[in-house]
Amino acid sequence: MSKPFYLTTAIDYANGAPHLGHAYEKVLADAIARFHRMNGETVHFLTGLDEHGQKVQQTAQKRGISPQQCCDETAELFLKLCRDLNISNDDYIRTTQPRHVKVVQELLQKLYDAGKIYKADYKGFYSIRQEQFVLEKDRLEDGSWPELFGEVIEITESNYFFRLAEHRDWLRGYIEEHPDFIFPEFRRRNVLEFLKEPISDLCISRPKERLSWGIELPFDKDFVTYVWFDALTNYYSAAVEKGCWPADIHVIGKDILVPPHAVYWPVMLHAAGIELPKKILAHGWWLSAGRKVSKTKTAADAAAPREKSALELAAEFGADAFRYFVLREMAVGQDSEYSEALYMSRYKSDLGNDLGNLVNRVLKMTGNYCGGASPVPALDEAPERELRELWEKTERQYHGLAAQLDFRGALDALWTFIRGINRYADARAPWKLAKSDAPADRAALETSLAVMAEGLRLAAVALFPVMPGTSEKIQTLLGCAPAEKFEGHQTWGRSLVGKTFGAGAILFPRPDPKKSV
Ligand code: ME8
Ligand code: MG
Repeated sequence: MSKPFYLTTAIDYANGAPHLGHAYEKVLADAIARFHRMNGETVHFLTGLDEHGQKVQQTAQKRGISPQQCCDETAELFLKLCRDLNISNDDYIRTTQPRHVKVVQELLQKLYDAGKIYKADYKGFYSIRQEQFVLEKDRLEDGSWPELFGEVIEITESNYFFRLAEHRDWLRGYIEEHPDFIFPEFRRRNVLEFLKEPISDLCISRPKERLSWGIELPFDKDFVTYVWFDALTNYYSAAVEKGCWPADIHVIGKDILVPPHAVYWPVMLHAAGIELPKKILAHGWWLSAGRKVSKTKTAADAAAPREKSALELAAEFGADAFRYFVLREMAVGQDSEYSEALYMSRYKSDLGNDLGNLVNRVLKMTGNYCGGASPVPALDEAPERELRELWEKTERQYHGLAAQLDFRGALDALWTFIRGINRYADARAPWKLAKSDAPADRAALETSLAVMAEGLRLAAVALFPVMPGTSEKIQTLLGCAPAEKFEGHQTWGRSLVGKTFGAGAILFPRPDPKKSV
């Protein structure tokens, strides 16, 4: 068997609850995974939790629980998020798992034996309150340190360093020769810009007296591994024994592209003689009132009149509406603004009016006028031909744009088609034809219902990677077994003739006016 298409998300920090940013990233990766499966590929989809490091240790301390308990609780929340959003990951890695610890230690030992890791003294300013080194550039204009650092002292500490600097030219060359390695293109240029300046070696250890919650260095028991070196390795540790490496896509946010994913990670792999991932996709941020959505609540958040979060709306209106909203609203790579009003507007107009009403109309009219059995499309006149041609154009655009990771564009094209079916219905007006006994009107009535249903079937199959539940529901209501591949299911045809449809169904109920904005 050939190597599966292997894709990953970032692994989330175990020190806070999931928010829109995490949920988006999983939905984006899930849509990619499902497109590849529908295109007939075997897929291996990994997500997981980043459990080590200072922040987790501190959060656990504050809460008076052990770091492992803190991680276990957070893992429950993220696993529930995956279930709630219908994420089809094949594996979930947690960096405290022995399978991961073992591979991190093997990698460290290999790099150490090859002379790529060395020990040196590091002298610098250290914030006791933040438990981290701070830099000269962090100083205020008057030379003092910002309040949040508390007392800052100068210390010398022995640590282990990974030879990053010597690989800069190689990395620049690699990125220049592999234009697909970093997506989107403008981020690739940012990385190349960053690499014009020298880079320093990477400190990959922390003395245990300062941080104990980490993976012990295999060659020095007094140290644990720096959390980024540990975390990045998850992509490899989860895959190597399954024969999935190299990854085809790492899906991550723009904040962790440079330097971790675009610099540390390729150099770590290259230095260890391991193949590089094929692509790194850096998406943008969800903003709320112009600021990055994050787990940290500010005083302003607490004071502001509360609007519902996207995850609250997902709980209220379902996973598919959430998935549609984020993929339709955000251009992959760009930032996007979240608001309850935007979300509800997409829900009511695109989902409720355009798609939901269409489904209900087709089912009800087929029930009322044809006893629920899909009729034969006897006519093939201008309205039918136009809609069929619109589908042929849509099919090319939709799958082409999705293959380029432009889900916003793809959904835009698909909705042009869905609105096209509604326009077709308005032009044929089957509800008027149903009042006539003339055979020509009967033929037009049956044709129009058959054509609307066929259009709906094609759109529903196409929609599967984005809205899997809705897609299956529509196909089932049209009397079909949900398609497991695109192949053979995206061509205009007559496969619904004679199929018995379900009764009318409201897929996207109007929000309760008492509960909503
Ligand atoms: O960075 N909009 O974890 P994390 C979009 N553990 N994406 C967002 C976002 C927002 N407002 N906020 C966060 C970490 N993200 C590390 C990763 S990978 C080896 C280690 C994205 O919980 C963020 O960009 O802070 C990242 O890709 C993911 O959520 C996890 O963020
Ligand atoms: Mg973060």
